[in-house]
Amino acid sequence: MSRQKSKRFAESKIMPNIIEMGKPNFLEMAGKWNSDFFLNTQPLVVELACGKGEYSFGLGKAFPEKNFVGMDIKGSRIYVGARSAIESDLSNVAFLRGKIENLRSFFGWKEVDELWITFPDPRPRDKDEKKRLTFSRFLKLYQHVIKANSIIHLKTDNRSLMDYTVQSVTDLGGEILVLTHDLYESDWREEHLGIKTYFENKFTQKGFKINYLKFRLPELSEPEGTIPPIFFRKEEMG
Ligand SMILES: C[S@@+](CC[C@H](N)C(=O)[O-])C[C@H]1O[C@@H](n2cnc3c(N)ncnc32)[C@H](O)[C@@H]1O
Repeated sequence: MSRQKSKRFAESKIMPNIIEMGKPNFLEMAGKWNSDFFLNTQPLVVELACGKGEYSFGLGKAFPEKNFVGMDIKGSRIYVGARSAIESDLSNVAFLRGKIENLRSFFGWKEVDELWITFPDPRPRDKDEKKRLTFSRFLKLYQHVIKANSIIHLKTDNRSLMDYTVQSVTDLGGEILVLTHDLYESDWREEHLGIKTYFENKFTQKGFKINYLKFRLPELSEPEGTIPPIFFRKEEMG
């Protein structure tokens, strides 16, 4: 492991805005983000696959009246967002290190007010379809944690992933609210406040157009299935 990574991991252990394995609150937050962590009743917004957390950080700064949790499996990436939040004194932004597959262990039934999925890995090979964060199994996880009528946003440079997602949402009976294949030439660009993620910056500099989708999923009337136990594989720990 690089020196930078070890330093970040050591610091993360004592950073109060990082929730990760080994900390007492790691698996204790579901249903209690506002009562036990943010200590207020503000709407809870979650960014999935947040990477270095530019979006959670940027939105947290722009909307102090909402709480934000950026989630990613990579500890050295969320460290960057968490450090920025501490330096900017943002008490409404936190980062969770975990696998999105385990979302129901981290967020309670209908606890989340809004979800963002920012530049997820497109996983173009057919055999990896199940790993796409908009595969039906993931959408069903989102249905468990979001409140009725909540909005889910997806931003991606990858047109195939966007087309796949529109189909996946529609197949599940979801509602497409906004769809553009060129966000920065669309009427929706203002809403994004100029906040760009690390990958978004990289792709826009290369001339890629940004796809943006806003959608809703049908409300579940009761939780389905059981919440599987949580586990990490060694290669996911970096
Ligand atoms: C292409 S990066 C995008 C990061 C960031 N959103 C951005 O736009 O800069 C995809 C991120 O998804 C995370 N990721 C992929 N699959 C995940 C999963 N199943 N659970 C948690 N994080 C995941 C990766 O660790 C990586 O940081």
